[in-house]
Amino acid sequence: MKIIDLRSDTLTKPTPGMRAAIANAEVGDDVFGEDPTVNKLQQRVADLLGMEAALFVTSGTMGNQLAIKCHTSPGDETICEENCHSFNYEAGGPAMLAGVQMRPLPGSRGVITAGQIAAAIRSADHHFPHTQLVILENTHNRAGGAIFPLEEIKNIRLLTQERQLKLHLDGARLWNAHIATGISLREYGQYFDSVSVCFSKGLGAPVGSVLAGSHAFIDQAHRFRKMWGGGMRQAGILAAAGLYAIDHHIARLAEDHARARKLAVCLSGFTNVEVDLTATQTNIVIADFVKTGLKAPDIVVNMKRKGLHCIAFSPTRLRLVTHLDVNDGDIDQAIDIINSVLQEMLT
Ligand SMILES: Cc1ncc(COP(=O)(O)O)c(C=O)c1O
Repeated sequence: MKIIDLRSDTLTKPTPGMRAAIANAEVGDDVFGEDPTVNKLQQRVADLLGMEAALFVTSGTMGNQLAIKCHTSPGDETICEENCHSFNYEAGGPAMLAGVQMRPLPGSRGVITAGQIAAAIRSADHHFPHTQLVILENTHNRAGGAIFPLEEIKNIRLLTQERQLKLHLDGARLWNAHIATGISLREYGQYFDSVSVCFSKGLGAPVGSVLAGSHAFIDQAHRFRKMWGGGMRQAGILAAAGLYAIDHHIARLAEDHARARKLAVCLSGFTNVEVDLTATQTNIVIADFVKTGLKAPDIVVNMKRKGLHCIAFSPTRLRLVTHLDVNDGDIDQAIDIINSVLQEMLT
């Protein structure tokens, strides 16, 4: 039985073209700064984001944690949205690696406002930690791939400049926001002190993220990357996949977005199944079954039996993610499976 796997866009595998690029990559020792393909990828991402410099890192987690480490001192506080990745899914890294505490604020579809942040900034008092950093996530994973509105990013940038705070963007899926809105990566990049982007989410690359920022910031991140064991040698074979992804797999994200919308519309057609169609802006669909009385893990088991894999995001919510390795035919088949499973379970 063919399995249609919509659990995550991290499942994508290198295409034949990407494998050829990997096989033919020129390499050198990147700890000596001599890997031409790594250097090319770093320069390419820095240019795309309008940043001075960039650093190839193992993962989105390493990119975010390096940013937190380099922008703060132990005992500082970092403001973020309560469902963001760096607060929830990075194994307590901010406390362990940077010695900072996170100040999660309730968001609306992953968005926190300049007003909320302003109210959360600590005043100068010996009882309080220093607020030092703000992190935003675009697109927002737990909020179903929702896009952070540019106008609010601008407001937050003005505030962070005024209050001398650093602003980091977890842009693991910034590519998706760029394709969905038409806003350039450079336009997004200009409002942040640092941005991390991933090649292993929906773009087919096996490994790799890039952290971008000023020369001084990247210099510091380089040292901590080494300290944390992230200095890699002939890493050009991985960077080649990133370069290939930029050239071949970003523009096509529009197809993933259209397929996600098709799934979202199908799910929203069932009575009492809640799908926020306005939040389904990119490649992630979240459907809430709370009003049906069905349990998400039971739906997952029944769908899996018929060949569709997805994730129970909470006891009542399912997440389905479209990506490079699913096509229109797979989506039609997924819709047939959803229809047959839900009709059975709801009657
Ligand atoms: C928004 C976001 N940031 C960061 C990460 C971490 O990436 P990695 O799994 O490469 O550490 C993820 C992973 O899914 C993510 O969704």
